[in-house]
Amino acid sequence: MMNETLKIINNRRSLRSYSEKAISDEFKDLIINSAMRSPTAGNMMLYSIIEVDHQVIKKKLVKSCDNQPFIAKAPLVLLFLADYQRWMDYFAVSDVESYHIREKLPDRTPKEGDLLLACCDALIAAQTAVIAAESIGIGSCYIGDIMENYEFHKDLFNLPKHTFPVTMLCFGYPKENYHSKELKPRFPQQYIHFKNQYKRLNKVDFDEMYKDRELKHYHANATNFGQHMYSKKFVADFTIEMTRSVRKAIEEWSL
Ligand SMILES: Cc1cc2nc3c(=O)[nH]c(=O)nc-3n(C[C@H](O)[C@H](O)[C@H](O)COP(=O)(O)O)c2cc1C
Repeated sequence: MMNETLKIINNRRSLRSYSEKAISDEFKDLIINSAMRSPTAGNMMLYSIIEVDHQVIKKKLVKSCDNQPFIAKAPLVLLFLADYQRWMDYFAVSDVESYHIREKLPDRTPKEGDLLLACCDALIAAQTAVIAAESIGIGSCYIGDIMENYEFHKDLFNLPKHTFPVTMLCFGYPKENYHSKELKPRFPQQYIHFKNQYKRLNKVDFDEMYKDRELKHYHANATNFGQHMYSKKFVADFTIEMTRSVRKAIEEWSL
């Protein structure tokens, strides 16, 4: 069974090369309003979306997000922030301070759990934006590297303490019919979908799971796909930087 929604979801792929065609304000609003219809924890909308339309800022992001030039060429760039600041500011103007003292409620600021919940909200909104865009012929690509260089991005976007740039999306129209290109493979469902209990996989499972992922050339003298991914992703400079950056952000949130 394939309806229009399932077709859009199952034919989506990341788009990193965009035509010159601008995205109209009407379509931009459609994408953002759809994102805002996403489920959100406690209906609190623990996120904000910053549209980046300044070319100077886009060029800075190219560099700070691990040198990805297509960011500067994307007609629409949306930064998704996990955002508890809006609630903290609202609590402040609502005189929560005297209220919590009067009612002997805890005096609390956002902590790690709040950050993770806000990240969930922001990411769910982002993925809704992806699907909404796709449904009107606009492709997209996530930029996970926005979690790197926390101090730089904080300064660049004037981010207050209880926000965190959890993801960024580049949008644009494809240059050619990109739906004719092959979809990137996913693992078979049996390795991803378990019932009731987690299932640890063994070598036999992994050999089967990765049998289509063998490459002609491996990275950094690796002799199999596992070693290749270890060096290319897991211990790569961008991963190490992301860990440093996220740790710094969590420290600031939780102070
Ligand atoms: C959280 C996240 C971060 C990503 N970051 C980047 C990125 O920084 N640059 C990029 O080119 N693609 C990025 N991608 C896109 C993935 O590389 C892409 O989804 C994956 O290779 C599968 O390809 P597909 O989306 O075409 O199916 C990211 C995707 C996700 C979900």
